[in-house]
Amino acid sequence: MVSSSLLSSVARRLEGKVAVITGGAGGIGSCTAKLFCQHGAKVLIADIQYEKGHSICKDLGPTSASFVHCDVTKELDVGNAIDKAISKYGKLDIMFNNAGILGPYRPNILDNDADEFENTMRVNVLGTFLGTKHAARVMAPAGRGSIINTASVCSVVGGVATHSYTSSKHAILGLTRNTAVELGKFGIRVNCVSPYLVPTSLSRKFMNLGEDDPFVKVYSNLKGVSLEVEDVAEAVLYMGSDDSKYVSGHNLVLDGGVTILTPSNMFEM
Ligand SMILES: NC(=O)c1ccc[n+]([C@@H]2O[C@H](COP(=O)([O-])OP(=O)(O)OC[C@H]3O[C@@H](n4cnc5c(N)ncnc54)[C@H](O)[C@@H]3O)[C@@H](O)[C@H]2O)c1
Repeated sequence: MVSSSLLSSVARRLEGKVAVITGGAGGIGSCTAKLFCQHGAKVLIADIQYEKGHSICKDLGPTSASFVHCDVTKELDVGNAIDKAISKYGKLDIMFNNAGILGPYRPNILDNDADEFENTMRVNVLGTFLGTKHAARVMAPAGRGSIINTASVCSVVGGVATHSYTSSKHAILGLTRNTAVELGKFGIRVNCVSPYLVPTSLSRKFMNLGEDDPFVKVYSNLKGVSLEVEDVAEAVLYMGSDDSKYVSGHNLVLDGGVTILTPSNMFEM
């Protein structure tokens, strides 16, 4: 017979763990925060959306979640968010570097300006770097930790989004691999999750859709299913939990197989 304590520890895969989630007020981040709390974690949502962040924490319950205003491009803010996790919850087990932006699609490079490129790199790449650096600062002395970065299918293929976004997501994968190599000696794992198009404010804006418009049907190799934020949250849960205790430097691509298609596969369909 399976004991009830064993059952609850299987069911709650983050019992006693503490997580910081950047971009936690957005689609993927808030869904992950909810799932983490359901699995017993304490979550600190770090975002620039003050009201939304607070309202999400209220729904999750004050003992499970709290909010800190944090612009991931500012080292002081990121350092402060990590320090707040330590002072409030006593430790940091999981750092989810998830904040990200995607500018409007301009396929012609001549229409892309340097400011937009730089801004995307600052939020997506510098933000992930700072989150990794400050998480490592407190995880290394503890000798454990899981850092998860949201990349995208744009970390492995070109032609899906803007030049700046694709460059930034390739860079996040490079940063993930480099830091996984360095931080392994401290027992810290570093991984990416890389979703295909999933309905959130970011993807809706990119496709000029309003918040209530039906989401576009995207090409999929895998029939009968579509990617939802809950699927991404489940992948992050796996990377954050001890279920992935020997997984580091990995890019978990959630694309139903789209990025492994060759032109000849596509021709047959
Ligand atoms: N939605 C998709 O189709 C998709 C696909 C692949 C990857 N992603 C990635 O997923 C991550 C989450 O995006 P989402 O789809 O949930 O979009 P979203 O717009 O719903 O959430 C993004 C969140 O990041 C926050 N943010 C933006 N700039 C910030 C900054 N400077 N500091 C702190 N927070 C900031 C926003 O306030 C927002 O809450 C991003 O890294 C995005 O690139 C999304």
